[in-house]
Amino acid sequence: MSQRVVIAGGAGYIGSHVCVELMSRGDTLLIIDDFSNAHPEAIDRIRELSNANVVVLKRDLADPMHKADILEAIKAFRPDGAIHLAGLKAVGESVAEPERYYNVNIGSALTMIEALKAANAKKFVFSSSATVYGDGNTNPVNESGGTAPTNPYGRTKFFIEEILKDIAISDADWQIVNLRYFNPVGAHPSGRIGEDPNGIPNNLFPFMAQVAVGKRDKLSVFGNDYPTRDGSGVRDYIHVCDLAKGHAAALDYLAEDKKGAIDINLGAGKGYSVLEAVAAFKRASNRDIPFEITPRRDGDIAEIYAAS
Ligand code: UD1
Repeated sequence: MSQRVVIAGGAGYIGSHVCVELMSRGDTLLIIDDFSNAHPEAIDRIRELSNANVVVLKRDLADPMHKADILEAIKAFRPDGAIHLAGLKAVGESVAEPERYYNVNIGSALTMIEALKAANAKKFVFSSSATVYGDGNTNPVNESGGTAPTNPYGRTKFFIEEILKDIAISDADWQIVNLRYFNPVGAHPSGRIGEDPNGIPNNLFPFMAQVAVGKRDKLSVFGNDYPTRDGSGVRDYIHVCDLAKGHAAALDYLAEDKKGAIDINLGAGKGYSVLEAVAAFKRASNRDIPFEITPRRDGDIAEIYAAS
């Protein structure tokens, strides 16, 4: 059954893939994005790839001056529910500027909750992260794993999950899914949308991609002395198109009138090391990926992957 869905952060890397997936199956979307970390062209490309039109509201969910407009637009759209992906996501930056991270990420989530309540559309899919687990769980990790995020970015994700659980307790009509993403990578097969971070990439795959195209000389592999099979860090890399399908499945689940709040891991259920990822990227791109081993990155854990 097609749905009317608000997509906050719909122009970003993950959001754009979610939009294409949902529009291709007939859902009608209202995208809200401030384009602070997204390209306006992403919208043209979403339209092109899904062969459908989409309404876009360029507003900042964390800006009190934009709130009235956002509430009005969401109400007028008459949504069934929303997917909330808007937020800041750089770990290092969150350590340096925690107030900004708490303001923007938690403020945006609260605005979305208020708007959906006012529109009487109490279905909420939240873009959370496996970062809420932190270190200390035995792999593979399932949703009952202990939560201990290690930085302000991770704590914003954790706190928003907790806020949503409190909201679900306060009003039994709310239907909430917290999607805990492992490591999303890759791009739509058309090559028209993908990950294109501003500045020096923080994450492994965009960094490798920039080395492959000659934009950067070499990759730094952060540590080869972890207690893993080859000493480099192990993560669960999930293709962004599979991740997008996970959002569609979450909406279908909520359409069955499921009440309350639930946490769901979105991972591939398999861990790969950094060195294995480099070898695979080399094979797939047919390009060399020069690298050097450098010291561990602060805050990194040895290994995390989802239970399948
Ligand atoms: C990071 C964040 C996580 C966030 C996720 C998605 C940290 C500590 N965690 O996850 O909170 O949800 O991104 O935005 O930043 N690596 C290298 N060289 C590089 C980059 C990475 O060796 O240049 C290694 C890392 O040490 C790690 C693996 O590659 O073992 C994956 O790193 P990355 O892509 O940054 O993701 P996470 O650290 O897992």
